[in-house]
Amino acid sequence: MSARIVCIHTPVLFDAAVEEAVDQLRRGEVVAVPTETVYGLAANALDPRAVARIFRVKGRPAHNPVIVHVASHAMVLECAAEWPPLAESLARAFWPGPLTLVLPRRPSVPDIVTAGGNTVAIRWPQHPFMQAIILRCGFPLAAPSANLSNRLSPTTAQHVARQLGDRIPLIVDGGDCNVGIESTVVDVTGRVPCVLRPGMISSVALFAASGMDSIPAESVGATGNSSGLHRSPGMLAKHYSPRARLLILSWSDETELEQQLLKHGVRLDHNIQILAHNHIPMSGRFAHVNVIPHDAEAFARGLYGELHRCDDAGADWIVVEALPNTPEWYGISDRLTRAAARE
Ligand code: TXA
Ligand code: MG
Repeated sequence: MSARIVCIHTPVLFDAAVEEAVDQLRRGEVVAVPTETVYGLAANALDPRAVARIFRVKGRPAHNPVIVHVASHAMVLECAAEWPPLAESLARAFWPGPLTLVLPRRPSVPDIVTAGGNTVAIRWPQHPFMQAIILRCGFPLAAPSANLSNRLSPTTAQHVARQLGDRIPLIVDGGDCNVGIESTVVDVTGRVPCVLRPGMISSVALFAASGMDSIPAESVGATGNSSGLHRSPGMLAKHYSPRARLLILSWSDETELEQQLLKHGVRLDHNIQILAHNHIPMSGRFAHVNVIPHDAEAFARGLYGELHRCDDAGADWIVVEALPNTPEWYGISDRLTRAAARE
């Protein structure tokens, strides 16, 4: 099978792509679709056989549950058994958008979606194409990121085509994703929000929207460090990986950068791709230096594209300049740390 790639940049193309995607989804197929975070691999969330296809295509382990995408409050209530005030506050502030809420599950949600657990992760995406197909289908869409399991998430249709092009019938090309990293996943089954996967909605924004002035100690994981994140079954240390080895380093000048590289066993004649945002090596000692803006939103938007590009350029090493340690960067730091992990 070789995926058809269809564009959506004019109203006519958009409508035709909606028709084609909805037709495939109604038949129980999987379709790669753009969302504002990363590309998703979508299927009818209420059809266990369609969702099983997602797992097969990705090579995803059955213990990792998938996110259910909705486009109305009625659809939320078809999937969630409860709608606590905390969920209402966060949904009002951030939906539609890059926020996933973990809620008690209704029995109508198939086991394969929740990995047999008693909660379901729900997101109302902002992307107009996602909203259009969910509304036309009339059923929610299960959609993990459209990559092979444990590989880097795609932020362009070309990224999807390279990993999954021979396994799925249709890829909808919506251009570059706006947010660039996966949604913030928040468990709202307790008294306080618990961040299971940090993203571009920072802990500060989450707690402000929850009506809390400070981050309660019991909300483990909310500061973006790894404690507490294991409550989300998919959050293994190694994840989101490029093929090349990835190092996160700090340096003040190029001599210090060279020393750091040697210390990590990197030979200077290796293909070393440097991604800098603050201290930019400019002497020409390093052949491949790329700059990502020193701005969390722009950095997130560009990061996966840069990592994909480094892999395509045959990188032995990707060296990323360490990020600021402030809340708006935590989601990005989380992905980079996982990309750097070897196990
Ligand atoms: O931005 C996103 O969230 C993208 C787009 C396509 O929407 N989707 C995405 O899906 O990143 P995926 O499958 O790659 O990551 C879903 C994460 C995993 O870490 C999974 O373990 C967690 O959400 N998750 C799903 N259901 C859960 C549940 N019931 N309880 C806790 N964590 C859950
Ligand atoms: Mg993923």
